Amino acid sequence: MVKICCIGAGYVGGPTMAVIAFKCPNIEVVVVDISVPRIDAWNSDHLPIYEPGLDDVVKKCRGKNLFFSTDVEKHVCEADIVFVSVNTPTKTQGLGAGKAADLTYWESAARMIADVSKSDKIVVEKSTVPVKTAEAIEKILMHNSKGINFQILSNPEFLAEGTAIEDLFKPDRVLIGGRETPEGAKAVEALKNVYAHWVPVEQIICTNLWSAELSKLAANAFLAQRISSVNAMSALCEATGADVTQVSYAVGKDTRIGPKFLNASVGFGGSCFQKDILNLVYICECNGLPEVANYWKQVIKINDYQKNRFVNRVVSSMFNTVSGKKIAVLGFAFKKDTGDTRETPAIDVCKGLLGDKAKIDIYDPQVSKDQIQRDLTMKKFDWDHPMHLQPSSPTSMNKVNVVLDAYEAAKDAHGICILTEWDEFKALDYKKIYGNMQKPAFLFDGRNVIDADKMREIGFIVYAIGKPLDQWLKDMPAVA
Ligand code: NAD
Ligand code: UDX
Repeated sequence: MVKICCIGAGYVGGPTMAVIAFKCPNIEVVVVDISVPRIDAWNSDHLPIYEPGLDDVVKKCRGKNLFFSTDVEKHVCEADIVFVSVNTPTKTQGLGAGKAADLTYWESAARMIADVSKSDKIVVEKSTVPVKTAEAIEKILMHNSKGINFQILSNPEFLAEGTAIEDLFKPDRVLIGGRETPEGAKAVEALKNVYAHWVPVEQIICTNLWSAELSKLAANAFLAQRISSVNAMSALCEATGADVTQVSYAVGKDTRIGPKFLNASVGFGGSCFQKDILNLVYICECNGLPEVANYWKQVIKINDYQKNRFVNRVVSSMFNTVSGKKIAVLGFAFKKDTGDTRETPAIDVCKGLLGDKAKIDIYDPQVSKDQIQRDLTMKKFDWDHPMHLQPSSPTSMNKVNVVLDAYEAAKDAHGICILTEWDEFKALDYKKIYGNMQKPAFLFDGRNVIDADKMREIGFIVYAIGKPLDQWLKDMPAVA
């Protein structure tokens, strides 16, 4: 029986390994992590992450060929294939701080693999890493190998949160990069055989190591660039009276462009896009390509602009101040169907509103009060680093309430900001909500989930990203 061990039981390691175990009953899969609470949660009825369909897959395999453990060394030692799916956050200090990937967790995993191994192993980069990381990892493993043969493969993950199980069951492609040597080719073949249990072989792409590593950064950069492109258009739509949904539809009908990923929003969030683009920018700079670096940097600049623009629109339309006013924030996760808040635009929007002395009541169906408090008091780039290393920050929480439903959040509020596109926000009783708000009642839709005209009929003053502005908003222009 082939044995797989995955280091890192997070958003990628957990679901990916659960699906491998589900699709390959003849393979034993152990997911290990240094975090005891995380592993305890994976072994309980309350999994540490919310992901549609995940519970079902885990329940079907856990205890049969899928195991979660903190005994990292034992399971690495016994495995034939070791996936490394640890976090690779942005560096907060030292050379490349604020841009370069922090490979501390990766390096310590690699040193541990070298230390405990007694048999040949295939080591798979599952984490998103800078190009040429495999070379560094190879050096660590070879210099400590005691004669053991290690083959390094790059097998980046393309799942998106909220649809992880669907994405893993039916991936657009699986990408495997390896050394172009007979041993490298053999390792690629072994990993290909794992995926071939359920992925058509023509969808398994094999490349050299550096192409695989770079393709992951490139894919995320292209995706984020699409959102920044449509968000840039949304600002122009508001200025001209065009409607961004109509523009996206018309543009996306061109088969060369395609309709997906063209929804204007308050800005993209999530643990990957910003981190990976910053990493790409740093790699370009290190390779003497400042023009290329600046090109990709602009994707992040537009994203920051979009979040600022939203805050400015809220403040300017409410007579240029939200001081002492209650704002209901509906949705805090970075997208629907996840409880993940890493780099969510809600953090910047809430901080912006708090900066203007608003009182905010936040409701999200999947995010806990503790998480929101941590997010609003944390410094930029600290979110993906261990808690004990995080310096405290001065953001005050006494103007923030986390509440249990949207109606409570909106009661007596002056304005509502919709920041995540949860389906339940489409079905709220907005007449009831309007009745319980201060007047004039404002509705700022950062995700274009509500029917703005219907809301105007109820009496709201409505702002929706990239949509024609009503007279009120035209009379109170926002300065970005
Ligand atoms: P995560 O923070 O959810 O999980 C990482 C886990 O690794 C944590 O539980 C941590 O305790 C553990 N860990 C760190 N060092 C360890 C060590 N030395 N030994 C054992 N465990 C260790 O992160 P994630 O979201 O799963 O992302 C992991 C990687 O995958 C990142 O490189 C990320 O860029 C990439 N990725 C993420 C996504 C996504 O949607 N989240 C998608 C594709 C790729
Ligand atoms: C992303 C990539 O999609 C995935 O392939 C990669 O493996 C990890 O990074 P994820 O961050 O989980 O996945 O979610 P994604 O669906 O890409 O959304 C990212 C952000 O962009 C969210 O905040 C989302 O709301 C926003 N978004 C997405 C838009 O604003 N408009 C869109 O049209 C699509």
